[in-house]
Amino acid sequence: MAEIGTDLLIAAKHLKQGESVGIPTETVYGLAANALDERAVLNIFKVKNRPQFDPLILHAHSLEEVAKYVDHIPDKAGELAKAFWPGPLTILLKKKTIVPDLVTSGLESVAVRVPQHELTLELLKSLSFPLAAPSANPFGYVSPTTAQHVEAQLGNKIPYILDGGSSNIGLESTIVGFDELDQPIIYRLGGKTVEDIEILIGKTKTALNKSSNPVAPGMLKSHYAPGKKVLVGDINSLLKEYKNERVGVISFKEDYSELRPVKQLILSEKGNLDEAAQHIFSALRKMDDPEIDLIVTEKLPDIGLGKAINDRLDRASARY
Ligand code: TXA
Ligand code: MG
Repeated sequence: MAEIGTDLLIAAKHLKQGESVGIPTETVYGLAANALDERAVLNIFKVKNRPQFDPLILHAHSLEEVAKYVDHIPDKAGELAKAFWPGPLTILLKKKTIVPDLVTSGLESVAVRVPQHELTLELLKSLSFPLAAPSANPFGYVSPTTAQHVEAQLGNKIPYILDGGSSNIGLESTIVGFDELDQPIIYRLGGKTVEDIEILIGKTKTALNKSSNPVAPGMLKSHYAPGKKVLVGDINSLLKEYKNERVGVISFKEDYSELRPVKQLILSEKGNLDEAAQHIFSALRKMDDPEIDLIVTEKLPDIGLGKAINDRLDRASARY
């Protein structure tokens, strides 16, 4: 079992020793270690059971700090960073040699982000190194949005989890990179909406990896999946079709209790997409329950955070 607490000194002590620590962010919880220490980074891959060809995000407390680790900041990247950091946006930039190849899986670019969480920002300011941190879940599983989620799956492999409450946004950061002409490409939909990004820097291209053998495996077609079969469609019809199975329903805002699912979770009774994003990962976890054979859910409106939620539902259901 990991110790769960809010003591920055204890978290810093473990990190300085090269250990991995659970940290809160506004998107999801991270599994953090010293990004400049190869052995510490290697331990992250081990704890998560993550293949080493899947690169990590480097977290720092400010744009000035990030600048120590990257070589070229395109104008539009600078604009994004100034407008949205700290916040749920990760930017891919050319790395300096000080960043170990293990962090970037040998790629020339490093993913960087300034997270918006008071405790974690304070922790980062107290350290003399940045933190490499993937989401704190076993590879391929749903990301954690509370310290208890981290404890449930990785607690026996790490010494400490910094408890910063429930993640405010509930979905991983949006990832933006730049092509040879410094034009922006969105690689992962996430907590910062495409609409917000485009208001600032104009039209973007999108390259969401939907294959089963992508360059960046975190964008694997099947990912973010709970241990149950997930079906996405019209909840009414799916409940009829699977009436002989023990079904758990995750709906956007409607109540389906009359159709007697074994369990039902409503993401946002008010139909608010931000609230739905906060709840989606914990809902998928709650349905990972021995009383349920099958999770039935539906697409949300394809705007704002709805786009990123729909992307996660696609991936959670991809193997079925
Ligand atoms: O919100 C988040 O981004 C959370 C919190 C903890 O900050 N972190 C997170 O990390 O989601 P992770 O490792 O679960 O997802 C990072 C994604 C992976 O899909 C990885 O393949 C991609 O970022 N990535 C990292 N570095 C990259 C690089 N240099 N080029 C392309 N993709 C990269
Ligand atoms: Mg992840």
